[in-house]
Amino acid sequence: MFHYVVNTYHRKYTIRPEIYGNFSEHLGRCIYGGIYVGEDSPIPNQKGIRTDVVQALRKIHLPVLRWPGGCFADEYHWKDGIGEKKLRKKMVNTHWGGVVEDNSFGTHEFMEFCRQVGCQPYINGNVGSGTVEEMQQWIEYMTFDGQSPMSQLRRENGQEQPWKLKYFGVGNENWGCGGNMRPEFYADTYRRYATYLRNFGDNKLYKIACGPNSDDYNWTEQLMKIAGKYCNAITMHYYTNGGDAWNRKVPATGFDQEYWYRMLHNTLKMDEMITKHLQIMDRYDPEHKVDLIVDEWGSWYQVEPGTNPGFLYQQNTIRDALIAGINLNIFNKHSDRIAMANIAQMVNVLQAVILTEGEKMILTPTYHVFDLYQVHQNATLVDSWMETKEIGPEGFTCPNLHESASIGQDDTLHLTLCNLSADQKADIETTLVGEGYQLKEALMVGGNMGDYNTFEQPEAVTVKPLTSCRMKENGRELSITLPPCTVARISLAPVQR
Ligand code: AHR
Repeated sequence: MFHYVVNTYHRKYTIRPEIYGNFSEHLGRCIYGGIYVGEDSPIPNQKGIRTDVVQALRKIHLPVLRWPGGCFADEYHWKDGIGEKKLRKKMVNTHWGGVVEDNSFGTHEFMEFCRQVGCQPYINGNVGSGTVEEMQQWIEYMTFDGQSPMSQLRRENGQEQPWKLKYFGVGNENWGCGGNMRPEFYADTYRRYATYLRNFGDNKLYKIACGPNSDDYNWTEQLMKIAGKYCNAITMHYYTNGGDAWNRKVPATGFDQEYWYRMLHNTLKMDEMITKHLQIMDRYDPEHKVDLIVDEWGSWYQVEPGTNPGFLYQQNTIRDALIAGINLNIFNKHSDRIAMANIAQMVNVLQAVILTEGEKMILTPTYHVFDLYQVHQNATLVDSWMETKEIGPEGFTCPNLHESASIGQDDTLHLTLCNLSADQKADIETTLVGEGYQLKEALMVGGNMGDYNTFEQPEAVTVKPLTSCRMKENGRELSITLPPCTVARISLAPVQR
């Protein structure tokens, strides 16, 4: 039996909805096929954008979407992706499979996609191979409402009004694919580029600097020292893999318990990395003016057999549901400083929430976790503590349970719980410190550790009722039995006395 205490009197911070963001890149079948099929496609679409995908993303209230990369961002020249489609320049996507990019999905299409989904755009500019002028003009093209060559060009391309754009990233992974820079050089380069990113009219940019790879604390140190005063946020990227080295990826399906625990153990490192990066940031920014954004996270496996290795197409199992649940709990608990997080990637790439094949679409276990956790968006984190025990093989142990809790704007208390055990249920005795609650709804995503959805069996893993929850009459003691390999959400309404 495990004790769980939730103190509803201790309300902490608002969980920013942007923590539940996604990332989309011109990579494999994320954009083409996954989002954009073109207006002449037999697949139902609006302005070339898949209707089924838009509907699925609206259901989880996707708050923000990052685009166009990733490594692709530092090779992308935005002017190639505007104007009449058949005149758009083609390019080779050198990072991702060497395929021809025809630029038929560009700024206008991305903004239209965000409009249909109802999410905010987060655009990542090109530092690695682009110029200051190019980046400056992109902002002017998108957001200037007066008369200028760029705003005129936008109008000629059919967009009379400027778009609203808040989030803008100055380069991606500039320590790697974005130019192999040293932190000092990037920090100075950031300062130069960011200077020319102007606020036009009432559009106010939130400028995002390229932060560290995983546990590269020196990058954070140098970046904050040199450029901290010039940005609203810095980013961090951390992918979970199960190999003993970064480049030794493990299969996405057909794994044993050892690889279940390896992946979960490595996922949990996210918490320590965030904590340490924030400690460094605090030394340079004690007033917390600069946020941390985790704009790439998720599992990275071997590609599905028979698929293009450059397309990063992988399946998604119950293990990925746990990876999502754990990461989202971690982000919730750091929501005083984490302003946004973007899972990599939205469709058909890495830990996707959606997979497509021609006209078919399936929702992954990860999607269903985003569905359960969406109640945390704009809710208030409350103080919570869970008793756990260490499980798993030596070197890759994990606590058996993981959680976060929040109170929504309608006063509903939501507990999101993960049982990391591959084979043991957990009996949890919950004490709710507060006014008293009644059980409203209990839902779960679970099954055997390797279960996943296919185009033939699209609902092998889906959201189901969690039937093993009992609230005592006093409204303060809740017994929960959580099956192994489960992510659950328990919602409780305050009792009117
Ligand atoms: O998400 C795939 C790639 O991972 C991105 O392009 C890059 O930023 C990261 O290395």
